[in-house]
Amino acid sequence: MPLERPYVILNAAMSLDGKIATRTNESRLSSQRDLRRVHMIRSQVDGIMVGLRTMLCDDPKLRVKYFHDNHPARIVVDSKARTPLDSYIVKTASSTLTLIAVTTKAPQRRVKQLQKAGVKILVCGNGPLVSLPVLMRRLRKLGIQRVLLEGGGTLNWGMLSQKLVDQVSVAISPRILGGEHAVTLVEGDGALRIEDAIHLRLLGMKRYGDELVLNYRVLS
Ligand SMILES: NC(=O)c1ccc[n+]([C@@H]2O[C@H](COP(=O)([O-])OP(=O)(O)OC[C@H]3O[C@@H](n4cnc5c(N)ncnc54)[C@H](OP(=O)(O)O)[C@@H]3O)[C@@H](O)[C@H]2O)c1
Repeated sequence: MPLERPYVILNAAMSLDGKIATRTNESRLSSQRDLRRVHMIRSQVDGIMVGLRTMLCDDPKLRVKYFHDNHPARIVVDSKARTPLDSYIVKTASSTLTLIAVTTKAPQRRVKQLQKAGVKILVCGNGPLVSLPVLMRRLRKLGIQRVLLEGGGTLNWGMLSQKLVDQVSVAISPRILGGEHAVTLVEGDGALRIEDAIHLRLLGMKRYGDELVLNYRVLS
C-alpha cells in the first residue's frame, strides 16, 4: 500500500480487440458473472473513480450491488465541473460521498451548483486537466485508501502514465468490436517505444465460459 496515495485497481471489460465501448459508446461488455466480480471489488474499496466522458456517456451509479456492506465514495475527474446536475451521482450526493475533482479553471457558478447539491469539490491544479497526483494525495488525506478506477481509456492513460495504478484487472469479452473511433482500454498519447511500455506481471486468471478475466500487478 503506497503511503502518499491510495492503492489503485484499474478495472474494465473489453472486447478481444481492446475496445471498451462501441463507436456509439455502448459499453456493457461484462457477463452477469463478471458484473458480480466487479461489484465484489467495489465492495472492498473506499472510492470508485471515472473520467468525465464516462460520466456523460453512461450516467453510472457507481454503487455496490449484491454485496451491501460498503458505500464507496464516487469520484469524477472533471476539470471544468461539467458533471450534469441531473446525473444519478449528483442527485444522490446527499446520501453518498460524491467527490468531483476540478481545476481552478472550472466556472464558479457550476462549482457552486454542484456544492449546493451536496457534492464535495476538490480543486486539483490550475492546468487544463485535473492534476492526478494532487487528486490522489487529496483522496489519501480524506482517508480513501483503495480506489477502483473504472475508466474510460483517456483517464486510464492519465493514471497509468503517471504511475498511479497498482493493479490492472480486465475481463475479455468474446467479441470483436472494431472501429478506429471506438474507445480502447488505454487512450492518450501512448508509448513511443516498446521499451517505454508500462510493464505488468500476471497475478492470475479466471475463466467464465468464453470470457477471460486477467489480473496484473503494475511493475514500477
Ligand atoms: N467497458 C468498460 O469497462 C468501460 C468502463 C468505463 C468507460 N467505458 C467507456 O469509455 C468511454 C469514455 O472513455 P473516454 O476515454 O472517452 O473518456 P474518460 O476517460 O471517461 O474521460 C476523459 C475526460 O476526463 C477528464 N479529465 C480531467 N483530467 C484528466 C486527466 N488528468 N487525465 C485524463 N482525463 C482527465 C477530461 O475531460 P475535461 O477536460 O472536461 O475534464 C477527459 O476528456 C465511454 O464510451 C464509456 O462508456 C467503458
